Amino acid sequence: MSQLLPDQSKLHREVQSRVWPLTCHNSQRMQPRPTSGPVADAKLQSALIAHLGTGLLFMLLPGTFLGVWNLISISSDRSLSALSPAWIQAHGHAQIFGWIGTFIIGIGYYSLTKMGSVAPFAVGRAWASWALWTAGVALRWIANVSLWTWRVLLPLSAVFELAAFLIFFRTVSRHRSTGIKRSVEAWMILVIGSTFGFLLLLLFNAVLAVIAAAAGDSPAFPHALDQRFLVLATWGFPVLAIWGFNARWLPAFLGLKPGSSKGLLAALAVCAGGVAFALAGSFVIASTLLMIASILAVTALNVATRAQKPAKVQGIHPSFPFFIRLCYAWLIVAAGLSMWAAFSDQAGGIWGASRHSLTVGFLAGMIFAIGPRILPAFAGGKQLFSPILMLASCSLLNLGCLLRVSSEIPAYEKLLRGAALQAAWDVLPCSAIVELAAVTVFALNMALTMLRPAAPVADNRIYSISFPQGSKLM
Ligand code: HEM
Repeated sequence: MSQLLPDQSKLHREVQSRVWPLTCHNSQRMQPRPTSGPVADAKLQSALIAHLGTGLLFMLLPGTFLGVWNLISISSDRSLSALSPAWIQAHGHAQIFGWIGTFIIGIGYYSLTKMGSVAPFAVGRAWASWALWTAGVALRWIANVSLWTWRVLLPLSAVFELAAFLIFFRTVSRHRSTGIKRSVEAWMILVIGSTFGFLLLLLFNAVLAVIAAAAGDSPAFPHALDQRFLVLATWGFPVLAIWGFNARWLPAFLGLKPGSSKGLLAALAVCAGGVAFALAGSFVIASTLLMIASILAVTALNVATRAQKPAKVQGIHPSFPFFIRLCYAWLIVAAGLSMWAAFSDQAGGIWGASRHSLTVGFLAGMIFAIGPRILPAFAGGKQLFSPILMLASCSLLNLGCLLRVSSEIPAYEKLLRGAALQAAWDVLPCSAIVELAAVTVFALNMALTMLRPAAPVADNRIYSISFPQGSKLM
């Protein structure tokens, strides 16, 4: 129990400051913070649950099922080029925008409930942007997969997504938290940077969608531009958000030494440089910078060092710190493979393995590990349905990712001969099935968690996210 109830004076300071704090507090003992009232908070919580549910649906059906289907088709044709680029991009869009983007927007709106007061219009805006965002991502998937009126649907989808994001951006950036004014910390700058990366990504997406609709012969973005777009869609947005939130949360969750501000800001600057070079088409320089940024982030976050305090694993599986660290191993693998790919990729195998290490090993791996830690609390003080299912989903995901990354390069690039090459192609669909199982178990565990009643008050630890008073963004 003493582990469940952290130091009260420290917590009190945290609650008082209300600067994006992770406050694990016992609501029986703490003074409640002023809010606009339980009705608005509960409504924003419902909006959060809708965003989480929608994100899970996009991840499962348009995202993972299509990804598995694509990989099985590529494996049976023994070539990546045999598959429609529009289908590959439909899968990627559903995962990055439909899953990760929806989660981030939902959590951003929810953070307003932790900032002292919720403006009455925030609830309506949360639902308006949810409807526009969901419609935008769904239309993009339909356009790419069915080709039905794609010249209309493609730009329409991009406009819906941009409009949804602008509503979100305006709502959270104009919101002022009540409380003590504090300086903006390094981790906040990373989160702010990722938010601008998200905005830039949506603008780039809209431009490419209009160009494809006006002059293209398919809804797929041209390969050379898509390669640049993908670097922004990964390193320029979710990777930065994860580094930022990890800097805030990991010292508390894993008992790590607090991160180095200088190191984090250096990682952000070098990563931004890497993304800029990729957008300019210089992939050798870009991938080198992304590797340096990853090493800087790992060092600054202290994820490769021994913990100073025991990890907080109450209610979740105790393997949590191991899987968080494993994500950073995948990050380094992804950066290393992208350096190799920039020099030697012939058939998309090294780029594909690098992207998979990043999107599945790092991004999905992080959400699978940290989601069970924070999402039940965000969704109203619930308890994770099953720590064993958490272990199963994280283990299967990492196993599937290992199988995929190790077989994709020899198979696509034809680095092996005879039976060995055959075996590499045969492993690929197995990796897809293992990852599908991982995703299904994760979604099931989360859905069953959301259906649970709120936990008893003593366990109802709230993971507040709030923004610095007076900051214009987040
Ligand atoms: C069951 C899991 C998954 C499978 C089987 C899968 C399969 C694939 C396949 C076959 C490709 C085509 C390129 C290649 O062959 O390497 C691809 C591309 C891609 N995947 Fe996945 N994937 C999975 C999970 C994910 C996840 C979780 C994300 C993101 C969070 C993601 C994001 C992407 C992106 C962005 C692309 C590139 C799309 C483009 O070329 O525009 N994938 N995936």
